[in-house]
Amino acid sequence: MMQTRLRKPEEMSEAVRVSAYAEASEVLLSPHFVQGAYGDDFTAPFLGRTLLAIDGHPHHARRRIESPLFAPEVLLEREHAVTERALDAELSRRRAFVEADGYARADLVELLRRVVMPMAGAIIGLDRVAEDPDSFRRLVRKVDDGLSAASAGIGSDWRSTWEAGVDAREELHREFVEPALERRTALVDSIRRGSLDRGALPTDLITLLLLDYPECVGEDLLREVVLFIVASTDTTVHTATVAVDCALGWLDAQPEPGRSVVDQTFLRAAAQEAARLNPPLHSLPRRATQDVVLSSGRKIARSQLVVVDLFSANRDPSIFGENAESFDPARALGPKTRPYGLAFGLGAHMCSGRAVAMGQISKGGERRELGPQGVVVHMLRAVLGAGARRDPLHPPRVRGGDDGRFADKPRFEVYPVVLGADDPR
Ligand code: HEM
Repeated sequence: MMQTRLRKPEEMSEAVRVSAYAEASEVLLSPHFVQGAYGDDFTAPFLGRTLLAIDGHPHHARRRIESPLFAPEVLLEREHAVTERALDAELSRRRAFVEADGYARADLVELLRRVVMPMAGAIIGLDRVAEDPDSFRRLVRKVDDGLSAASAGIGSDWRSTWEAGVDAREELHREFVEPALERRTALVDSIRRGSLDRGALPTDLITLLLLDYPECVGEDLLREVVLFIVASTDTTVHTATVAVDCALGWLDAQPEPGRSVVDQTFLRAAAQEAARLNPPLHSLPRRATQDVVLSSGRKIARSQLVVVDLFSANRDPSIFGENAESFDPARALGPKTRPYGLAFGLGAHMCSGRAVAMGQISKGGERRELGPQGVVVHMLRAVLGAGARRDPLHPPRVRGGDDGRFADKPRFEVYPVVLGADDPR
């Protein structure tokens, strides 16, 4: 029986909070800090022993195994074949229903969730997501809620939400992972027998793990699948929704409306500013492996839990200027500062899927024009291109903030928009 214990809130309240950009970067880059969560607590059935939870050489080795998922040609193909297609289908479906006031309506959050699920399915290799997207979305929601309940342990019902998440994980395994595994095991066996060339294999997580880390099949493979689902879906939906929200607000405030927002430079800058201002993960836990003195002089004792506050670091005026709190798609930054700040983390655990979300940015900060543009940019372009505006009758709803359970991951729960507004951008 797995040993599980509750980590929060007592332990987290004893943690040291690091909020300045320079200190936050130093902790994330330092070899003297390791992951501070996902071990023997209630998050373990979801994330224990995954890429996110391990450190040192095993972590490095696993990142290498999974790295083909993020090769430029793989990203590009997935953007066209999966994300753009799903976006077109979802937007067309909603635009077909025009209401009496002349508007078609959509909940942006729900629409984008329907777009990211096939994306996650393609990355992981879950073929049945395309056949049964509704069951997949339902299970992902339960797993996500179970993980949030495990992380916070707040509220009288957290235990039942956690248990429902663990049950959903099992169903996910039966309904989606096992059929995918069966098909890929047969393909990999053909490679081993020499009757199939390795190039004929799909590039997805399950295939890569079967090829280069076959001993993980079972519990650890399922957890890695869960990590990729929770890491890639809500994060992307949240960032794209914030990007649309920021872009609409900014455009409305322009003295000369009507500027073409399909301008790629604006779309990129909007996506990056949105991620900086409102990152889907507000903080990252780390634990010191020895006594450390940071460059600022702050001392951190061995075993101390540290909360790296991405939200505050990303609004540090010494890095992002006096207007750090506002959305500014023309923000000028120092050469070493990433435009999205620490939204994707930094150092060994920096988000391995950031190019999926944001496209590829070369060292100098400029985008490779013909390379992958990132699904957040695609989403922003498609939604603004469909003439989306905030629905004047229905305000957006946010989960998080006052609700302790989700305090570290506030999300737009509902974001109503009208489509095909009279001045399509
Ligand atoms: C806007 C979207 C996203 C944001 C803001 C985001 C943010 C992050 C952050 C902050 C971390 C670091 C966690 C830590 O250091 O403790 C992370 C890790 C990770 N992300 Fe993302 N993520 C996004 C999208 C994605 C996507 C699309 C994928 C999958 C394809 C993905 C896969 C991962 C994985 C596998 C890790 C663990 C990396 C490791 O521990 O080495 N993420 N993400």
